[in-house]
Amino acid sequence: MDSFEFNKIAGAVLGVLLLVMGTGLVAEGIFSGPKVKVEGYELPAGQAATAAPATEAKAVETPIAERLKVADAKRGEAGVKACQACHNFEKGAAAKVGPALYGVVNRTMGSMAGFNYSAGFKEHNAKGEKWDYASLDAFITNPKAYIAGTAMGYAGLADGAKRADIVAYLRTLSESPAPLP
Ligand code: HEC
Repeated sequence: MDSFEFNKIAGAVLGVLLLVMGTGLVAEGIFSGPKVKVEGYELPAGQAATAAPATEAKAVETPIAERLKVADAKRGEAGVKACQACHNFEKGAAAKVGPALYGVVNRTMGSMAGFNYSAGFKEHNAKGEKWDYASLDAFITNPKAYIAGTAMGYAGLADGAKRADIVAYLRTLSESPAPLP
């Protein structure tokens, strides 16, 4: 093969290569749409994350009447250790940081003679509201949520079974304990 023939072949090969590259570029220009930044759909992650705990928090708790059926006053007596820093539980005992709690079931809220209750407690007292199993249970769960501005510096007890034990113990602090619900 002479050089002229070689050049023809080489030229043809080059031409084909250029053509292929050229069509490639043109095709890309025609078919490529806007660049997709992230593949797939963006999930509303924020919403999903907040929705889950909300439904958990709404989980209905067994009513105190049911929990009292399996509650134990002895366990409750041990459970009030944290309360004893501020409360006396014996009959005729004086107030500490908080009012004495003997006979608190069915007692009018904020009614221990001589104790200077917070404004929130005085409000409930003025309405003549009494402590019953449900209100005691709710108050111990979260004192500040139950009586706004209460002076009781106790964060609350989330464990419903432990609260029922404490309420069962408070019930026994009486000459004639109130009937169980
Ligand atoms: C840091 C001190 C403190 C602790 C701990 C504490 N309390 Fe109190 N408690 C108080 C004070 C102070 C009051 C009066 C609140 C007011 O006037 O707002 C009170 C009020 C009460 C009352 C209302 C009594 C009434 O005369 O109306 C009950 C019931 C009660 N506490 C139960 C408990 C129980 C049960 C615990 C333990 C689980 C507990 N407290 C832990 C300080 C405390």
